[in-house]
Amino acid sequence: MKKLFLIFCMVLTTIFAMAACEGSDNTTPTSQQPETPGQSDHETEKPENNGQDENDQEGNDQENGTDNSDNITTPDVSKRYLVLYCSRTSNTEQVAELIHSSLGCDIMEVEPTVPYDENYNAMLERAQDELSAIRQGDFPPIKTNVANFDDYDTIFIGYPIWYGSIATPIQTFLHTHASKLAGKRIALFATSGSSGISSSVAEAKRLCPDATFIEPSLLLTSSTLSQAEERVTEWLDKLGTTQTNPEVPSTSSLKMNIIVGNQTITATMEPNAAAHDFLSRLPLEVTLNDFNNITEKIFYPNPPLNTEGVTQGCTPMRGDITIYTPWENVAIFCKNGSKSNQLIKIGRIDGDGIETLSVSGDIRVTFQHP
Ligand SMILES: Cc1cc2nc3c(=O)[nH]c(=O)nc-3n(C[C@H](O)[C@H](O)[C@H](O)COP(=O)(O)O)c2cc1C
Repeated sequence: MKKLFLIFCMVLTTIFAMAACEGSDNTTPTSQQPETPGQSDHETEKPENNGQDENDQEGNDQENGTDNSDNITTPDVSKRYLVLYCSRTSNTEQVAELIHSSLGCDIMEVEPTVPYDENYNAMLERAQDELSAIRQGDFPPIKTNVANFDDYDTIFIGYPIWYGSIATPIQTFLHTHASKLAGKRIALFATSGSSGISSSVAEAKRLCPDATFIEPSLLLTSSTLSQAEERVTEWLDKLGTTQTNPEVPSTSSLKMNIIVGNQTITATMEPNAAAHDFLSRLPLEVTLNDFNNITEKIFYPNPPLNTEGVTQGCTPMRGDITIYTPWENVAIFCKNGSKSNQLIKIGRIDGDGIETLSVSGDIRVTFQHP
């Protein structure tokens, strides 16, 4: 009888936990309908230059996508920034990239030693196992180690929310770097299906008790991710951030117009050498060839763009302007693509502008300064 009662309690707990994770978004894990988490084994990497409360749903603990808990630290963000993030399906990466390009600062991905599972069910199981191991003090290994944060005053840390918690690679990172992060300012950002961020903020504070957490934190859910650009800009303004590197042009000088027939769409270029080379060639009139049935629109700059010293590798999102290094062509993505180490991101079409280019066939366009 006692056994039966115990089983009943366990079933009830499971149902509540899964219900708490269910939301409008199908990336939110359920047992039935799935989609889709150390000590370092990878010595010091130089960053690239250039439990959810069960009813902690979006809207309950946040306003304008930012967390507004009581413990507000006056934003006084110093200028040397680093963006650290982990991301399995690129949502958090997209937000991290926006912060990185707005601030012209360093960025680094925190990766698990064992790559994420492709299979969503396997991923859910792994995440649950890792989260319960963490509760026992056993953190899953990650590949990423930062020797020190001497070059940085403020560190932006981003993660997807897994079962209301910080995704496990970032939990390991915070745990293993807690003493190095003491005294540093940390600004948290997260993405989720629909869950709120406040439980994970409390978790981060427990993992790094001697760091100063700047608030508000930023959360983008499946219903607000499409507004990432505006949300990130608003958030960085609220935090009082300014560009890290005075040699990096201001965001306004990275703007570009693209004239397509009688329409003008805009793009924001990256603060890297290849993007600068592109901008230095404006105005530039070219034919964009359709590649793979409106997957990409491509052209071959002549001479090829200068990619020397520019970090390679990105997960192209719809609207991204990239260089595919083996062919030296510019590729504008009309659909999301998968991660490639042979792509360099040089910019992004603003807002929904990519729709104008997402038509069949070749298109004549002019890139020009605004
Ligand atoms: C293992 C796992 C657990 C998740 N748990 C939650 C959750 O508790 N609440 C929620 O709203 N979304 C949850 N999600 C959805 C992710 O938080 C969401 O899709 C996020 O944007 C993914 O970010 P990424 O693309 O950077 O990996 C979960 C996803 C996975 C894979």
